Amino acid sequence: MKFATKTIHGGIAPDEHTGAIMTPIYQTSTYIQSEPGVHKGYEYSRTQNPTREALENNIACLENGKKGLVFSSGLAAIDTLLKTFSPGDEILSSNDLYGGSYRLFTKVYQDFGIKFKFISFDNPGDVKQHITENTKMIWLETPTNPMMNIIDIKAISDLSKEHDLLLAVDNTFASPYLQTPIDLGADLVMHSVTKYMSGHSDVVMGALVVKEDAHLAERLAFLQNSCGAVPGPQDCFLVLRGIKTLHLRMQRHCENAGKIAEFLDAHPKVGRVYYPGLKSHPNHDVASRQMRGFGGMISFTTKEPTVEAATKVISNTKVFHLAESLGGVESLCGHPASMTHAAIPKEVREKSGVVDSLIRLSVGVEDVDDLIDDLKQALNHI
Ligand SMILES: Cc1ncc(COP(=O)(O)O)c(C=O)c1O
Repeated sequence: MKFATKTIHGGIAPDEHTGAIMTPIYQTSTYIQSEPGVHKGYEYSRTQNPTREALENNIACLENGKKGLVFSSGLAAIDTLLKTFSPGDEILSSNDLYGGSYRLFTKVYQDFGIKFKFISFDNPGDVKQHITENTKMIWLETPTNPMMNIIDIKAISDLSKEHDLLLAVDNTFASPYLQTPIDLGADLVMHSVTKYMSGHSDVVMGALVVKEDAHLAERLAFLQNSCGAVPGPQDCFLVLRGIKTLHLRMQRHCENAGKIAEFLDAHPKVGRVYYPGLKSHPNHDVASRQMRGFGGMISFTTKEPTVEAATKVISNTKVFHLAESLGGVESLCGHPASMTHAAIPKEVREKSGVVDSLIRLSVGVEDVDDLIDDLKQALNHI
C-alpha cells in the first residue's frame, strides 16, 4: 500500500461483527472468560484493547515497523523505553531536543544511574569519540525542537550498527508522511502522537514503533502492561480518525510553512529563520535527501535580540494563537525559552540557539494569506 492508502486502511479492518467501517470504541475495562484463561484474546484493557490495538497496528504500518505501542503521552512512551536500560548504561542524545525529554533524562533517569551525553550530530564523524563500552543507545530528534536542525539518520545508523547501539528517533516533527527513520536504519521510532499524528489538538498520547517484532518489542509490551501508562479507547479512536487525513494535512502544513518561511526571511524586522526548506538552511541538502517535504514548523528570531521584541510579536498575533504544543490544524506560536524549553538551563539552551528572541511557529492549515497578514501586523508592533 502507498502512504495515503495506509493512513486509511493500514493495520485496520472493518468490524467483523457489524461491518462498521470505523473502528468501534471498545469502552471496556475487562472481557468475559468462559472458564479461567479461556477468552477471545482480551482479558483486561491495560493489557489489550481492540481500539488501541487497531491504532498500534496502524501507526506501525505507517512507520514501516513490525510492532507499534501507544502510551498515555509522548513522555510516557520515552519513559517506557528508558526502563529497558540499567544503571551504568550511557545514552548519547542530540543536544537540541524537546525540553520535557531533556528533563526526563536529566532529572529522573540520571538519578537512577543512567548517563546521558548531549552532543551535536551535525558532523557524524565527530560522534565516535563519545561512544564508550557502556553506550547503549543513540537518541535523535530530527528536525530538532525548536532549532530545526536536521540530522543525517542514515549516517548515524551506519555508526550505531558499527558499535552495536540502538538507534531511536523522535519523529514527532516530521511524522511518517515526511520521513520514515526505520527505512533509514533506525531500530525504533517515537512519537508525541499529541502533535501531527492526532492533528486536532484534542488528545495527549505517545507511541513507539519497533523495527523488529523481537526481544525489544516484547520487552516494551511487557513494560507497557507492567507500568500501565496506556491511553483510553476514546483517545485511540480520535487518533485513528485524525490519522486518516495525515497526508492531506501534512501537504498543506508544508505548503503554508514554505511560503511563511520565505516571507519571514525577507522581512526587515526578522533576524534568522530556521526552516529546513530554505536553501540557506545549513542542513538543507540532508533534509532534501531524507525528507519528503520540509514540515510545518519554523523558528525565527527578531532582529532586535530581546525577549521584549519577541513578546510583542507573539502577544499581538490574531490568527496564530500563543500556546504550547504543535502539529494541529490551527496555527500556534510560542516562545521556547520561557515555554517548551524552560526546563533547560539558560546557558545550555543558548548554546544550541534557543535565545530569548526566538519564536517558534506551528503553521496550521488555514489560508496562507491570512497567516502572512497576521505575522505582518504582529511584526509591526516591534
Ligand atoms: C519532539 C517532542 N518529543 C516529545 C514530546 C513529548 O510528548 P507529550 O507532550 O505527548 O508527552 C514533545 C512534546 O511537545 C515533543 O515536541
